[in-house]
Amino acid sequence: MNAAGPTLFDWARRAARPVFYLGNNRVSQLGVVLTTASAITLLTFYTTEFFGVHPGPYVGIITYLILPGVFVLGLLIIPAGIARKLRRERRAGQLPPTYPQINLADVRLRETIYFVIVMSGLNLALFLTATYRGVHYMDSTQFCGLPCHSVMEPEYTAYQNSPHARVACIECHIGPGAPWFVRSKLSGAYQVLSVNLNLYSRPIPTPIEDLRPSRETCEQCHWPLKFHGDKIVVRPHFAEDEPNTKTYTVLSLHTGGIDPLTRQPVGNHGVHLMPAAQIDYYAADHARQQILYVRYRKADGQVVEFVAGDAGKPLEELRAQPLRQMDCMDCHNRPTHTFELPGPALDRALNAGRIEPALPFAKKQGLELLQLSYASQAEAASQLRTRWRDFYRQQHPALFNSHRQAIEQGADALVDIYSRNVFPQMNIFWSTYPNNLGHDPAPGCFRCHDGAHSTPDGSRTIPNDCSTCHALLAFEEPEPDILKTLRGE
Ligand code: HEC
Ligand code: HEC
Ligand code: HEC
Ligand code: HEC
Ligand code: HEC
Repeated sequence: MNAAGPTLFDWARRAARPVFYLGNNRVSQLGVVLTTASAITLLTFYTTEFFGVHPGPYVGIITYLILPGVFVLGLLIIPAGIARKLRRERRAGQLPPTYPQINLADVRLRETIYFVIVMSGLNLALFLTATYRGVHYMDSTQFCGLPCHSVMEPEYTAYQNSPHARVACIECHIGPGAPWFVRSKLSGAYQVLSVNLNLYSRPIPTPIEDLRPSRETCEQCHWPLKFHGDKIVVRPHFAEDEPNTKTYTVLSLHTGGIDPLTRQPVGNHGVHLMPAAQIDYYAADHARQQILYVRYRKADGQVVEFVAGDAGKPLEELRAQPLRQMDCMDCHNRPTHTFELPGPALDRALNAGRIEPALPFAKKQGLELLQLSYASQAEAASQLRTRWRDFYRQQHPALFNSHRQAIEQGADALVDIYSRNVFPQMNIFWSTYPNNLGHDPAPGCFRCHDGAHSTPDGSRTIPNDCSTCHALLAFEEPEPDILKTLRGE
């Protein structure tokens, strides 16, 4: 046996005496009860989970956040009770001059000590597991999207129908690294509070003030220098006439990038993603829709400034404003919370046959109904169905009987479009959240490329020629030749 062994043991025995004496109080006992009860419940949950029973998002709040909280509270109450008793007895002069001996020959006491040691080990393991799982749970898409249902529903709904439906919320909203992790947990705690106290704004304002720069989020997955070349986009369009006349718009978007051979910028990504080049701007409004001043530092270091024609402020004053450095999010501000507008949404539904194009005036009627104002999604659902049916019953009675199923299916599609895009409880209506990728109906690219942002001497203007960003190969044509070519006809 080690020579230090007995001394260390003696010391431990002496040190444990006040704990045993002072631990004998109501508060500490309550702590033990809380800890034990929550520990047993937690273990039960973990066991059921081990056998494949997974809690829903709401049960998740209890198992991952509340129970561990009670557990930790219990652990904290134990020393608090000890401190309280110490203070009281000292003040009253009741503290014994020496604490009672711990007699290890006493079997009951020995058993108690073993029990405390085993439980402490178990508690530590449980505490670490619960912390790990709690943190993990708070990072889950389920936690971000579901518990604060009405608040996050719009973003969550749009997200589920987007190219990023399998990318976790935190990948874009938090990203890697400890400081952002801590920041996000603090802000998350505030958000839970604000939801419970009903303090949050409706709609949640966009853009997010301190969103992490895309270099540290999007670019963890997307290589900014990737060369995309051109992208052909075919957009079917249905007119608001009786036969819902179908036409096509065909665009060749010059997405481009950095040409891998010449290292020169090409197309829409081109100068915007050129390494060493940088574009900063000043917007007059919070939504960043009115851009008054743009500073373009080229890759060779030359700086060019552009001022909006109607800026109404001297250059010196504009320069002194806080500037925002342009990144992916200034164009792709809706990469995943992509809310549709009623026109394009109806075009998509008609094109897919979810709304039967043979129903007369389907587009016109759909547009009118979708744009009425309803108090809630539930009211919208019932009103949309009734009015849609009434329209065909009254205006086209023969068809109403012969195409009953198509009419019902069309009503389903309308309700679906509405409930994915309009959230009256959050004050989100059509185009509450502008999409900056394009120029209709939000100004998007035209916030700078409107032909009216020029250098102070007027010698250079941010280009807005229609062929700068895309080739318009067909515009609302019934059977464009380019489409036949693309189909190989
Ligand atoms: C692909 C990246 C990405 C993912 C994944 C993502 N978001 Fe977003 N989110 C964004 C961007 C970009 C914005 C707009 C930021 C801006 O313009 O400042 C945004 C904005 C928001 C907003 C502010 C309101 C708005 O619509 O502008 C909320 C709330 C939000 N996201 C919640 C979520 C939730 C909840 C999830 C997971 C279910 C999620 N996000 C997943 C990129 C993402
Ligand atoms: C965790 C990885 C990841 C992150 C982070 C991420 N993306 Fe993506 N993104 C993807 C994947 C994977 C796809 C391809 C999806 C597909 O084609 O099915 C994609 C597709 C896209 C597309 C093409 C969409 C389309 O219509 O086909 C754009 C644009 C895009 N991402 C922009 C962004 C932006 C902007 C951000 C940051 C706000 C971002 N991404 C963050 C993985 C990611
Ligand atoms: C100046 C505006 C602008 C900026 C800044 C920008 N993009 Fe794009 N990006 C576009 C346009 C325009 C398209 C083509 C639109 C479409 O696909 O509908 C596009 C397309 C894409 C695509 C799809 C390409 C394809 O072939 O389908 C991805 C992925 C993408 N961008 C990622 C990014 C990432 C990541 C960043 C930041 C590093 C970024 N973009 C910055 C304008 C921009
Ligand atoms: C904040 C202002 C701003 C916004 C918003 C913006 N751009 Fe630009 N863009 C610029 C500046 C500045 C240049 C460089 C102009 C120059 O070289 O004189 C540029 C250059 C370009 C070029 C190269 C033009 C050429 O012929 O050299 C393309 C293409 C382009 N942008 C596409 C887009 C697209 C597409 C969008 C929207 C998705 C967009 N930009 C949004 C500021 C902006
Ligand atoms: C600064 C870049 C830029 C310039 C300049 C520009 N566009 Fe576009 N345009 C875009 C982008 C990006 C989209 C794609 C938006 C999308 O994916 O829906 C687009 C989409 C379109 C569409 C398709 C809309 C639809 O039905 O989906 C039309 C039509 C169009 N542009 C016409 C024009 C015309 C006409 C001009 C000249 C006055 C012009 N554009 C100038 C960037 C530009």
